[in-house]
Amino acid sequence: MHDFRYVGSKLYCEHVPVESLARKYGTPLYVYSQRTLTQHFQKLNRALLPLDHLICFAIKANGNLAVLRTLNNLGAGFDIVSEGELRRVIAAGGDPQKCAFAGVGKTEAEIAFALRQGIYAFNVESEPELQRINAVAGRLKKMAPVAVRVNPNVDAHTHAKITTGTYQNKFGIAFEEVEGVYARASKLKHLRLRGLQMHIGSQLTEARPFIEAVRKVAPLVARLSSKYRFEFFSIGGGLGIVYQPALASGSEKWWSSPKAKRILTPEKYAHELLPLLQPLGLRVLIEPGRFITGNAGILVTRVEYIKRTGQKNFVIVDAAMNDLIRPAFYDSHHEIVPLTRRSDRLISSDVVGPICESSDFFCKDRKLPKVSPGDYLALLSAGAYGFVMASNYNARPLAAEVLVQGSAAAVVRERQPTAKLWEGEKVPRWLERQSR
Ligand code: LLP
Repeated sequence: MHDFRYVGSKLYCEHVPVESLARKYGTPLYVYSQRTLTQHFQKLNRALLPLDHLICFAIKANGNLAVLRTLNNLGAGFDIVSEGELRRVIAAGGDPQKCAFAGVGKTEAEIAFALRQGIYAFNVESEPELQRINAVAGRLKKMAPVAVRVNPNVDAHTHAKITTGTYQNKFGIAFEEVEGVYARASKLKHLRLRGLQMHIGSQLTEARPFIEAVRKVAPLVARLSSKYRFEFFSIGGGLGIVYQPALASGSEKWWSSPKAKRILTPEKYAHELLPLLQPLGLRVLIEPGRFITGNAGILVTRVEYIKRTGQKNFVIVDAAMNDLIRPAFYDSHHEIVPLTRRSDRLISSDVVGPICESSDFFCKDRKLPKVSPGDYLALLSAGAYGFVMASNYNARPLAAEVLVQGSAAAVVRERQPTAKLWEGEKVPRWLERQSR
């Protein structure tokens, strides 16, 4: 269920016409639907009800404080990968005791900060990291709750850049080595072996790799759990979403394409995994990012120019790869639709931004409705790995973000003022002296 739909010719987010937001707050503009966020969280939560579980939202997907607060109010925990992300959770009113800290490069300062805040667990990615956490905990006179991240060497059948669970990847500790690592870790005085974690990749659209990984790892968890009295098993994130929802003309049901129907739903996911997880008798953590926020957000942009070369029709918009890098980075598909449907005439178009790079595009040779300068377009499914991956490349300020709930809309991040672009930069004295 997604709350972006046409009412007549106008695209709405919940009860708000998106064009009114674009006019009021300017573009590029990220717009999030609180109801969609809530429904995605609740859907997953319901599917996992037979288990003692905690949904730790992967805040790398969308760290906006209002998004985090929405999820925190629903009872979510958080999957974090840096001190910055933990500070974001705290700023949003979240509970560090519901945070799991992943990542291969945790610094001593980050470990100390997380220990002082009392996080739920460190998901440890190497033996040197275990030793470092033990040493820092010793210095702080604390016990550090840890889980080893196992790399099960299972192919997630997803994009190479977002596969994490094979031996080609930097993540986790090889399946065959994990028991030895726990045996050695159990001798370190300042560690509490609280569980085990895995995460095999992102944007998985079928259950098979999840099943394969859980089947492989569950017996290991059972063995280790009886030895070290585990409390939890984290199966990571990765639930995929539909990036190509059908936009049947005149229909309000965008998301009813055959492809959308085949997608891995939380119900299917739970149906397949529950029988493997329940016998463990452990608390199950899951770390979804994209599933919760991906289709709860869009990026709104304004058409600046239409440029026809001999061979192509370029629609030049005011958003760029610095606002949404996924097409440039992963060749990913984002559906592009007008905020006001005026014409049924389709023209093969490249939608591109103003940045001086050929990879600054949102689509190539795609049949899109004819648009004119001043029209607005929405890039769908931009709520995960959208704003969070934005940069100031080409000295472009970061976009504003708006949250909608019913008929209400609020700016949840101001557009970055241009003068802030060089905030913190300094010209050294000697250069000042050298100026004429
Ligand atoms: N847990 C861990 C340890 C992770 O590394 C990730 C994502 C997640 C959970 C959440 O995965 P999700 O449920 O969102 O699939 N920038 C890429 C995606 C990178 C994913 C990184 N790790 C993209 O735009 O597709």
